[in-house]
Parts: sequence; structure tokens; C-alpha cells
Amino acid sequence: MNILVTGGAGYIGSHTVVELVSRDHHVVVLDNLSKGHKAAVRGIELVHGDTGDTGLLKDVFRKHNIEAVIHFAASSLVGESVRQPAGYYHNNVVKGLALLDAMVESDVRRLIFSSTAAVYGEPVEVPIPEEHPTAPTNPYGATKLALEGAMRWYGQAHGLRCVSLRYFNAAGADPSGKIGEDHDPETHLIPLVLKAAAGLASHLEVFGTDYPTPDGACVRDYIHVSDLAAAHALALDALAAGTPAAVYNLGNGNGYSVLEVIKAAEEVVGKPIKVKYGPRRSGDPAALVAGSGRIMAELGWQPRFADLKTIIETAWRWHSSHPFGFGK
Ligand code: UFG
Repeated sequence: MNILVTGGAGYIGSHTVVELVSRDHHVVVLDNLSKGHKAAVRGIELVHGDTGDTGLLKDVFRKHNIEAVIHFAASSLVGESVRQPAGYYHNNVVKGLALLDAMVESDVRRLIFSSTAAVYGEPVEVPIPEEHPTAPTNPYGATKLALEGAMRWYGQAHGLRCVSLRYFNAAGADPSGKIGEDHDPETHLIPLVLKAAAGLASHLEVFGTDYPTPDGACVRDYIHVSDLAAAHALALDALAAGTPAAVYNLGNGNGYSVLEVIKAAEEVVGKPIKVKYGPRRSGDPAALVAGSGRIMAELGWQPRFADLKTIIETAWRWHSSHPFGFGK
């Protein structure tokens, strides 16, 4: 299939490109390189541009005979979204609508959307099933949910067929060690733990030790980025087979606390990691764990790297061989 991947030079996008190419899809990446890395998509056709540029999108659709879009390009930091909601509504909703419009006008009607566990807000039930109420507690989650809603209505009005994948905590790196996570600034737990392990940071600060969890630290469901990538390929197959629309959670169904992640990382790197205990980070729910039974039952998705230590090992392979990420 000819596939356009927006934000394909980013972390989850570039791993999905690897997966698609391994399945013989023809991939074109659209990325404005504000966060993504050219080096993450070597050998892949890269269009340097923006998802909000409807004219450019239509040109790309026509030139490459695009049959489906996987939409990653977005702003994705919870804390930043609380401080700057306008940027999130603009990037994630306004530009998202420009993409949907360009797709409808160009008769491209298959879309996989990169959504998030943040659509649920504070869980009232864990593991969280897809039927869980959606009540985001920050603009990031709200904007992702807004585009999910628009996709549903575009489906009804224009026959757009969409699959939303609600990721829990993406982690790890391609087992080859050639691509991995490189954010600036880095805010995610596992890369920060490994930076401390590598001596690139003095310590890791644990945000909060008084949560109502077994050890007082936040609990999250870490899912390997290559397992996320594989889910996108399965969702494409489902659209090709005629699925009209679907929403799936993606996690392993196992919750690990921040302290358990640090312990697993210490075992992987073979030395102690210096930790300091700080206050809670605002907006962090105590525990987020996915119920991913639906995608397993309907698409046959199975994680290949469910074990936390394996996830961290792949991340360590990347970080220890690329201490400064993709470089400048
Ligand atoms: N944490 C620390 N110290 C750090 C960084 C993180 O203790 O230096 C903790 C956080 O408080 C949290 C856990 O580690 O409990 C994981 O934090 P991340 O920042 O790695 O990930 P989040 O759970 O905050 O965010 C992820 C995705 C978001 C998504 C969100 C859904 O990265 O895109 O889940 O709630 F919106």
C-alpha cells in the first residue's frame, strides 16, 4: 500500500516506518522536523512540510497515489499543553482538520490516528477498557479526543474510515539499536533514568512517593515502541479488509511503578542509579494500565517485547550507543 506517515521522523513514527517497510509498504514521510530527526528516516522519501498545509498534502496524495495516512504529527507534552493550550489546539486540532479535509478532497479514506491514554483522564477503573469514560485532565488529551470525535463525524458524513490507537507509555527502541527516542527536552521516565545511568545527568528525580499505590510511586503501563508500530500495520490491514472505524487501547496490561522501573534499569545497566525523591508532578494520575483485550481479539495483536527489562534493554542499546541521540 502507498502510505503517508505524518510525523514519521519522530519517535513512534520512525519505528512505524521501519515496520511498514518490512511489510513491503511504500512509505512517504511528511514531517516539519520541529521535533523529528532526518536521520531517523534515512532511505525513506521525506517531504519537509506541515500537516496544516492542505495544498502540499493534496500534491503528495496525488504524486504518490497515497491510499492511507498514519497521522503522528502533533504536540505531545502534557505539562506544556497545560501552559500553552492554544498551540495544542492549533497543532493537534486545527492542523488535524486540515488533514481530514485534504484526505476527503483527495479521496484518501483510510486513516490511522495516534491517540493517547490521556483521553481517559483520572481512571475510575484499572485496567482501563476503551469503554471507560473519556474526561481528559489536560489540553493534550482534550485535543486528541477532539480529533477522534471529528474523525467519527467525518466518517459518517464523508466515508472516512479511521482507527484510533490510544497508546499508554511508549518506551524502548528498535532492537537494531539504530533508531530510538530523542526528545528535546526529554521528559520521559525511561530515557531520563538511562541518562542518569550513563552519567549524563546527576540523578533521576522521582516525582511523588505518596500515591495510593503499593510503593507510593506512580504506576504506568510501558509498551515497546515496536509493538506499537506493529499495531499500526495491523490496523491498516483491518481498514483494507473493510473495517469502518475502531478505537483500540495499546498497552501490555502490566503496571510498573517508577521505583520498579528504576530497579529494572539498574539490573539492565548493572549498576546503581542515583535517585532523589521530589514532589508530585502536577497532572499525573496515580495509575494508568491498559486493557488491550479488544485489539488482541479483533486484530490478533500480541506484544513481542512485553517484559519490562527487555523494553529497557532495547532502550539502553540505543542510548548507550547514541548518548546524544541523532546528533545535530
Ligand atoms: N517520572 C518521574 N521522574 C521523571 C520523569 C517521569 O518520576 O523525571 C514519572 C512520572 O511522574 C510518571 C512516570 O514517571 O509517573 C512516567 O512519566 P512519563 O513522563 O515518562 O510519561 P507520562 O505517563 O507522563 O506520559 C505518557 C505519554 C503522554 C501521555 C500520557 C498519558 O508520554 O504522551 O502518558 O497520561 F499523554
